Amino acid sequence: MIVAPSFLTADMHRLEAEIASVRSAEWLHFDVMDGQFVPAVTYDQRLVETVRGYSDRYFDCHLMTEKPEASFAVYAGAGADAITFHLEASQDPAAGIALLHALGLKAGLAIKPATPVERLAPFLADVDLVLVMSVEPGKGGQKFMVEALDRIAWLVSFRAERGLGYLIEVDGGINGTTAPLVRRAGADVVVAGSFIFNRNDREAAIAELVHGRPD
Ligand code: DX5
Ligand code: ZN
Repeated sequence: MIVAPSFLTADMHRLEAEIASVRSAEWLHFDVMDGQFVPAVTYDQRLVETVRGYSDRYFDCHLMTEKPEASFAVYAGAGADAITFHLEASQDPAAGIALLHALGLKAGLAIKPATPVERLAPFLADVDLVLVMSVEPGKGGQKFMVEALDRIAWLVSFRAERGLGYLIEVDGGINGTTAPLVRRAGADVVVAGSFIFNRNDREAAIAELVHGRPD
């Protein structure tokens, strides 16, 4: 299972050191919030550009923004590898996915906890990744919502029945207890912010998410 550290709760004043501290994580999760789709505002493509200047990891950009398609090109130019946008924020998800592929990016679709997972069905043959939010988007440090487990299971069986290849990513409230639950449900990627960055030993936190708590 891939761990994608979200540095939303990291110390932004020493971001390069914080990123260096999650040595074993191949993915970095950028939580972009615009103050419209969610109340908070975090950062934009300039942060992606800055970090791209010293990291060649896989940049997994989660756009919690209205009209996400309008900024795909600037994130591509800033060095994103993948962009995940919200089904709830898009007028035409199929066009958004096609645009991301035309820009050479991987395309992800995210759903908020209240959105029926079946709404994703028309797009699942085309996306590279589905992001199941296990918290209400907008901030780190929230409690995992167990309803996410059924949605993961639904996506696992939909993918198997149709021979599709999208990755299933889960985001929000992931820790040593909830990571095994989502792994058993079939998740391929977990995003973790506070569980990793609130710990001094980030590598131990990442290992715990991947392998479970050491005995
Ligand atoms: C919430 C973000 C999540 C969040 C994860 O809107 O999408 O990535 O930062 O943070 P934790 O792991 O602290 O729940
Ligand atoms: Zn996120």
